Amino acid sequence: MAQIRIRNTNERIEGEAEVKAFLDSQEVVYEHWDANKLPEALRENFTLTDENKAEIIATYEAEIKDLAARRGYEIWDVISLSDVTPNIEELLKKFEQVHTHTEDEIRAIVSGKGIFIIKSEELGYYDVELEPGDVISVPENTNHFFTLMDNRQIVAVRLFIEKDGWIAYNIDDPDFIKA
Ligand SMILES: [Fe+2]
Repeated sequence: MAQIRIRNTNERIEGEAEVKAFLDSQEVVYEHWDANKLPEALRENFTLTDENKAEIIATYEAEIKDLAARRGYEIWDVISLSDVTPNIEELLKKFEQVHTHTEDEIRAIVSGKGIFIIKSEELGYYDVELEPGDVISVPENTNHFFTLMDNRQIVAVRLFIEKDGWIAYNIDDPDFIKA
């Protein structure tokens, strides 16, 4: 279950209802998939073959199709990041740049952990710490970035309306406070 940390005040928001209410107030979609549906062999596995990725898509086909039908996604894939990912340091550095997209950025966490850092107009930046089963969508044109947590391992399903909608527009925001 996701947890929130507001960077300006260090306030944490925990508990399903509280997190959902907070993210609703920020127009961030927050839903769940059943993390237990993932086949045993794919749990805690961060070096996925193309076959493994296809198996993940097949496992969550109903959830993916449901999201796509409700929110207009046309394409989807699986990403896996960990210390064995080539250039992981470079990638993480690139990730940690505040940016926006012209479509929403939706991720379903399948295994591992990750954080979205998102800007609220009223509260400043807040972290959303994500676990397996968490599905989150950062609204279009909203300052954000994504990074890994200390374990530096994640597998997530990404969905897109169109690939070009996901181009990142970097923003140098003086309001951004590092962790
Ligand atoms: Fe993004």
